Amino acid sequence: MNEFEVNPFYELIINDLMNHKYSVVDAFFTAKEIELLRANLKLKRELSNFKQAAIGNNDSEQIIEEIRGDSILWLDEDQPDEVEKMYFEKMNNFIAYVNQTCYLGLQGGEFHYACYPPGTFYKRHLDTFHTDTRRTLSMVLYLNDEDWNPSWGGELAIYLKDEHGVEYQKNIHALPGRMIIFNSKALEHEVKMVNHVRYSITGWLKTR
Ligand code: OGA
Ligand code: MN
Repeated sequence: MNEFEVNPFYELIINDLMNHKYSVVDAFFTAKEIELLRANLKLKRELSNFKQAAIGNNDSEQIIEEIRGDSILWLDEDQPDEVEKMYFEKMNNFIAYVNQTCYLGLQGGEFHYACYPPGTFYKRHLDTFHTDTRRTLSMVLYLNDEDWNPSWGGELAIYLKDEHGVEYQKNIHALPGRMIIFNSKALEHEVKMVNHVRYSITGWLKTR
């Protein structure tokens, strides 16, 4: 039998999520793992077809560049390469922990590489669809180059409310290796215009 062991790092994330509905995590992956993931994304980008991302889901997919300008490639959990295996292992480890401690009933996730060319953005939106509300936690991992300069833009802006119910934006820089986890059903957010290519893996942990 597996003895349950408290993971202080995961506990911090879970605490953030319960108190603020989001968490900014700078050490979910090691620097070496980030390097491997970044190289893998760039390799995939040369070998495979990243597709212009759409909005909506299967029933109503539309490509509207005035709303979102990134290109994406879905990861295939049934046929992962060695680097993706490491990524899925960490994700599944986190999912198992969250399920044991928060009873969220997460069944797994869906994940895609994303690339925002200069001049692109993703307008304010929510990650759940009217017809599909299974997305529970959104996780964005930035794979930008080590010399990423915050003046290049591409911040993730999340919309929050202060104690008087007044809305404000929190802008988070897409620093290499940074992961942002947030409640998919609760937080509207946007990707600000970027003027330098911006790389990430975005994923959603889903309930049944
Ligand atoms: C998304 C998204 C945020 C980011 O892909 O739905 O909101 O920072 N991404 O890339
Ligand atoms: Mn989103």
